[in-house]
Amino acid sequence: MPKWCPGTVVSKKVWTEGLFTIRVAVPDVTPFLPGQFLQLAVFPEGHDGDISKLINRPYSVASPHSDELEFFIVLVEDGELTPRLWALNEGDAIQVAQRAAGSFTLKKTPEAETLWLVATGTGLAPYIAMLRHHQIWESFENIVVVHGVRHFVDLAYTEELRALEEKFPKRFKLVQSLTRDEGTGALKGRIPGLFEDGSIESATGFDCRADNSTVLLCGNPAMLDTMEEILAKRNMKRHRSKSPGQIVLERYW
Ligand SMILES: Cc1cc2nc3c(=O)[nH]c(=O)nc-3n(C[C@H](O)[C@H](O)[C@H](O)COP(=O)(O)OP(=O)(O)OC[C@H]3O[C@@H](n4cnc5c(N)ncnc54)[C@H](O)[C@@H]3O)c2cc1C
Ligand SMILES: NC(=O)c1ccc[n+]([C@@H]2O[C@H](COP(=O)([O-])OP(=O)(O)OC[C@H]3O[C@@H](n4cnc5c(N)ncnc54)[C@H](OP(=O)(O)O)[C@@H]3O)[C@@H](O)[C@H]2O)c1
Repeated sequence: MPKWCPGTVVSKKVWTEGLFTIRVAVPDVTPFLPGQFLQLAVFPEGHDGDISKLINRPYSVASPHSDELEFFIVLVEDGELTPRLWALNEGDAIQVAQRAAGSFTLKKTPEAETLWLVATGTGLAPYIAMLRHHQIWESFENIVVVHGVRHFVDLAYTEELRALEEKFPKRFKLVQSLTRDEGTGALKGRIPGLFEDGSIESATGFDCRADNSTVLLCGNPAMLDTMEEILAKRNMKRHRSKSPGQIVLERYW
């Protein structure tokens, strides 16, 4: 079990029923890198304060390290923890692991001209943390966020990401895709198909090639697997310290 820090929910933003962002005041978390994850935990109902009974799961932190941390979470029906997280409101207690973990960070990401940040659903969380930190803007010439969701209302953080497009019109692009809805300004279909048929690259104006790009993949594991296969056809492979490549991924389940 990790060492736990007591936290307090300071705000809860509901993007749509079951999809939400909480900000947690938790000053004692050890500094970490954008892209890393922390365990979140709550006690089961009727608990006696025994920390061995905490229900915990890993969550990417959606903000850089500070006294207040942000988490972007989806309610998994029948899940053990997320219904309890969804029920939290401002002022409620939550336990946060003291130390973050994970290697889904820019430190472990190969250099390239263009960085592709590809996510389904809440897989967007680590990218929000990275984009709010100066390092990404110093390390990559071009940055693309590709966010695929089911419905238009699931497109969280759009305002913040569109503001980055205005701030960095030549360097930053946002491509959103919907699988079960139509929406102005969004592509229709799953990310791998839209990548393979060239729709995503044409929407950005950037090419995704082994000699100019690094691709980060986060979220639904099936999307990660299919994207890896598609990128392999472009001679792109998983980056490992002993065998450099162009793909870095974070599998959520
Ligand atoms: C490194 C890492 C970072 C993560 N970061 C986030 C995050 O930022 N936000 C977030 O919402 N989740 C994140 N997750 C998933 C999270 O840890 C939990 O698995 C998820 O919240 C479900 O917990 P639960 O107890 O409600 O469900 P459980 O009772 O544990 O049931 C889990 C089952 O639900 C399914 N499942 C799990 N997560 C999802 C999901 N997001 N969408 C659809 N089905 C899912 C899988 O089939 C899984 O086997 C992350 C997972 C990992 C490994
Ligand atoms: N508003 C919400 O997001 C919301 C609210 C409450 C509860 N939930 C629950 O939360 C869970 C997660 O839902 P989610 O929508 O965040 O995540 P998800 O099921 O992973 O879907 C996110 C996106 O990934 C796509 N996708 C699924 N499989 C793929 C694959 N093999 N390759 C490429 N793309 C793929 C989906 O397309 P498809 O549509 O084609 O599957 C969708 O566009 C579900 O149990 C859901 O019922 C979601």
